[in-house]
This record gives sequence, structure tokens and C-alpha cells, in this order.
Amino acid sequence: MKTFILGLIFGVLAVVVGGYLYFSTGMVPVAVTDPDMPFEKMLAHKALSARIDKEMPKTAPIAADEASYTAAVTVYKDNCAVCHGLPNVEETKIAKGMYPHPPQLFKGKGVTDDEAGETYWKVANGIRLTGMPGFKTRLSETEMWQVSLLLANADKIGAATKQALQPPALPVAAPPPAKK
Ligand code: HEC
Repeated sequence: MKTFILGLIFGVLAVVVGGYLYFSTGMVPVAVTDPDMPFEKMLAHKALSARIDKEMPKTAPIAADEASYTAAVTVYKDNCAVCHGLPNVEETKIAKGMYPHPPQLFKGKGVTDDEAGETYWKVANGIRLTGMPGFKTRLSETEMWQVSLLLANADKIGAATKQALQPPALPVAAPPPAKK
């Protein structure tokens, strides 16, 4: 029994000391280009989806229609596009430099396979230690729903919304001053 207890104490100590050394000697991946920590993605995704399953709203309080999508465009361009991109526009240097990488929400299927309520939870609460901000006290509930519905239906939006999502045309260069 005595050896068992001693073994247990040494075992626990070894884990604590090992963990401390891992963190204190600069071995933990902290730069964006470092490889993943063991089980990092799996644990983070499990924790996030467990929380969202518990808390996400099941129905949207506003209609999923073109008026909502068009209204969401300004919110999206002002608060999301720098990280999540615009249709047919090259990804920004900011997005390219981030870890985890912000998914480009108008490329491929984006989050059209997620319920709008799940996206709403992420927009409202953010995702800690990823760079994804929480907008709860900074955007209105309606704005958060509009943007969530826009993204959930990014594969179904009409021409007017697509047009509004285009970046403004670059200003035409002024003609050179006339020589006197
Ligand atoms: C500063 C960069 C940044 C901004 C600004 C930002 N996000 Fe994010 N967002 C991220 C990152 C990084 C992730 C990936 C998090 C992860 O891997 O878990 C993310 C994840 C998401 C996801 C989940 C994607 C998926 O595939 O499950 C959604 C939806 C989302 N963001 C929506 C938004 C919306 C809407 C806005 C604006 C209101 C916004 N984000 C603003 C960085 C950003």
C-alpha cells in the first residue's frame, strides 16, 4: 500500500512537473505557423459544439428573405469581411496571417450547412483564443440575425445582394494637370 501511494504521488508530480516544463521552456506552439498542440483542434471543437448545442436559438425571430440579406451587407462589410472575405475578392493579408485561419464564408459552402442559430451564437459570443470577436453588446440582435441569415443562405442570395457585396470600384485616376 505504501509503495502504491508513493508511486501515485510521484506519478502526479511527474505530470505536474512535465506540464510546467512544457509551458515554461518555450515548447508550446504560440506562433501562428507553429504546428498544432496535441489534440488541440479536437478538444477545441468538442468544447465549442457542446456549448453551442446547449445554447443556440432554434428559430430566427426575423424572416430569411432578400431584405434581411441586403440589410446584412453593411454589417458584414464593416465587421466581418476583413477576416471572412467577400465573393470573388482575394483574401486579405490579415486573414492569411491568422491562426486558426478564418474560413472564407463566401467561398465553397461557407457555413450554409450550419443552422443560422449556430452562426448567431458564434457571432454573439465569439470564439475565444481564435481571433473571432463576440459582437453581443456591439451589434443589435437584429443585425446579428441578419448577418447570420445572410451567411446561412449565402448560396441562395439574389443579384441585388451579390452586387452590394462587391467592393466599391477603385476611383478612376485623375487626369494629369494640363501643361501651361
Ligand atoms: C479578426 C478576424 C475576425 C472577424 C473580424 C470576424 N471573424 Fe468570424 N472567425 C474568425 C476566426 C479566426 C474564426 C475561426 C475560429 C475557429 O477556428 O474556431 C471565425 C469563425 C467564424 C464562424 C464559424 C465558421 C465555421 O466554419 O464554423 C462564423 C460563422 C463567423 N466567424 C462569423 C463572423 C461574422 C458574421 C463576423 C462579423 C460580424 C465575424 N465572423 C468577424 C475571425 C474573425
